[in-house]
Amino acid sequence: MGTFSNKVVIVTGGALGIGRATALEFAREGASVVVADINPEAGHAVLAQLQGMPGQGQFVEADVSRSADCQRVVSEAVTAFGGVDVLFNNVGIQPASSYANVEQTPEDLWDRILDVNLKSYFLMSKYAIPEMRKRGGGVIVNTASVQGLQSMKGVPAYAASKGGVLSLTRQMAIEYAEENIRVLAVCPGTIDTEMVRASARLEGGDLEATLQRYGQSHPLGRIGTGQDIANVVLFLASDKASFMTGEYVCVDGGYMALGAWAGGAGAKK
Ligand SMILES: NC(=O)c1ccc[n+]([C@@H]2O[C@H](COP(=O)([O-])OP(=O)(O)OC[C@H]3O[C@@H](n4cnc5c(N)ncnc54)[C@H](O)[C@@H]3O)[C@@H](O)[C@H]2O)c1
Repeated sequence: MGTFSNKVVIVTGGALGIGRATALEFAREGASVVVADINPEAGHAVLAQLQGMPGQGQFVEADVSRSADCQRVVSEAVTAFGGVDVLFNNVGIQPASSYANVEQTPEDLWDRILDVNLKSYFLMSKYAIPEMRKRGGGVIVNTASVQGLQSMKGVPAYAASKGGVLSLTRQMAIEYAEENIRVLAVCPGTIDTEMVRASARLEGGDLEATLQRYGQSHPLGRIGTGQDIANVVLFLASDKASFMTGEYVCVDGGYMALGAWAGGAGAKK
């Protein structure tokens, strides 16, 4: 019996990256996992990886920025597995073409990033919460980012979406605490996923060397893995975190502990 035996878990953006690693970890711990993703090929590959694990899986092709698709993801989870216990709102995009200041950001790109990265979290929660209520409670874990806490040039839409995720996390936590629905967020640092590799490729040169350089800016000296995030998400979704809600956890190799002055004059090497 795994920690999540008899639990039904929905993972948005579950076909690749952090979502895939977390979906697989939930299945290792016995959960019935619904992978909702826009990419059917990668989604079916996750189902193949789930074979032989204690849990089971279902793939739902969906664009979770759309209300009808979110409703369908939840109803397919209920049809396949009888309800919803855990929602991992993880989907997120940061298109390589989106690095621009506010004036240079096209309105339709702003809308797309906010629709996928923030509105989908609202929509998925809106339709999953009634199913959690029927089961006496549940857990929502949202993927924010260290970029929801601090920022860099060129990411107005992404940074705003991640700040919004943290605010929505607090909001839902206080509204649903009395119904035993806990709501938490993770703030990853740089994680080795398809998203990060795509942006590292834009720099040209040796990809692995670029990823190593990204790692050196994290105090622990490496970038993270999807598994690093999955481990924390499973903890937050488990009864071991039963007194946690409305909180975010940085999983960032110490990135947020660094001051802006850390490498400056007088700093110890
Ligand atoms: N990788 C990092 O360094 C990092 C750091 C901080 C936060 N994050 C956040 O972690 C989350 C996962 O990122 P990742 O790096 O694993 O990304 P990824 O690009 O590797 O995977 C994202 C998945 O989401 C799916 N997807 C995209 N748009 C969708 C839509 N409209 N509907 C359904 N599925 C859709 C993709 O097909 C893909 O499977 C995102 O919210 C991202 O912002 C990532």
